[in-house]
Amino acid sequence: MTAQRILVTCDLPGDRLATLKKDPRFAVTVLDDAGRRDIPGAVSGLDPHGIVALLSDTLDARVLGSAPALKVVSNYAVGYNNIDTAFAKEQGIAVTNTPDVLTDATADIAFLLILAVSRRGWEAENFMRAGKFGGWLPDLFLGIGLQGKRLGILGYGRIGSAVARRGRAFGMRIAYHARNRLPHAREAAEALEYLPLDRLIAESDVLSLHMPYTPAARHLIGAAALATMKPTAILINTARGPLVDEAALLVALRERRIFGAGFDVYEHEPKVDPALLTLPNVSVLPHIGSATIETRAAMAALAIDDCVAVLTGAEPRNRVV
Ligand code: DGY
Repeated sequence: MTAQRILVTCDLPGDRLATLKKDPRFAVTVLDDAGRRDIPGAVSGLDPHGIVALLSDTLDARVLGSAPALKVVSNYAVGYNNIDTAFAKEQGIAVTNTPDVLTDATADIAFLLILAVSRRGWEAENFMRAGKFGGWLPDLFLGIGLQGKRLGILGYGRIGSAVARRGRAFGMRIAYHARNRLPHAREAAEALEYLPLDRLIAESDVLSLHMPYTPAARHLIGAAALATMKPTAILINTARGPLVDEAALLVALRERRIFGAGFDVYEHEPKVDPALLTLPNVSVLPHIGSATIETRAAMAALAIDDCVAVLTGAEPRNRVV
């Protein structure tokens, strides 16, 4: 039997990829930096049976359609907006993702940003590093305390509820909005307040985004939404960049119409508007939500195992379509 071809679009942490390479049922190609510059070329050239892809690999209908042998795309991410899932479904190509294993790591990063912005952590650190600390002062880097404040979670899935848990531990009141409202019993058990979207945006002290990206959600937080936020509010985005209209946010931050913002994701990732980096009331991270040694290895294991599952006729653990 000839080996099935698997294209892994980048070397992955952990040991599962090494194990896969030794499996005689598969011929594994791992792209290096040069190869990554032309993913469409690699896909059409190899015509793989399976692809293990990164969230930054655009796998649209043209790319997917260039590989007639393709049976599965395993996305090395929980989000999968980089893949044309409708086309994949139509063609009978399975798509899988890596939920659960990255929930806590990503919620930790969201909370790191909440603390950094509310207590002006990185602004203060930059001040220290620049040698500007001249002694304790009553008003040096006054931030906002979280206790008793409303943490608004937009999108109450696994990561959203993990951020809520952290917020509760900091004495915050939790409100949420999600496409599907939770059962009352769960809201009561978790002391959760459900708010319509416009009220969540307008009444949160910290608004943290945890919904998946779909084109309909593009610029959900734009000029109109930003105008309704409290002047003391903080916006956190660890989900997907295009949920926020970055140009409108820049204006709001520059004019101090909100207190600050923290980002792990960007509208035109990996490009970041240089103006964003000059604002003191912004904390920025390079999309490291899931970047712990343990999590990234677990994601690799999930993605590879699900790719193998589909190629061997088994049901993958995390099928999206
Ligand atoms: C994901 O998995 O979608 C995250 O953005 C990765 O950090």
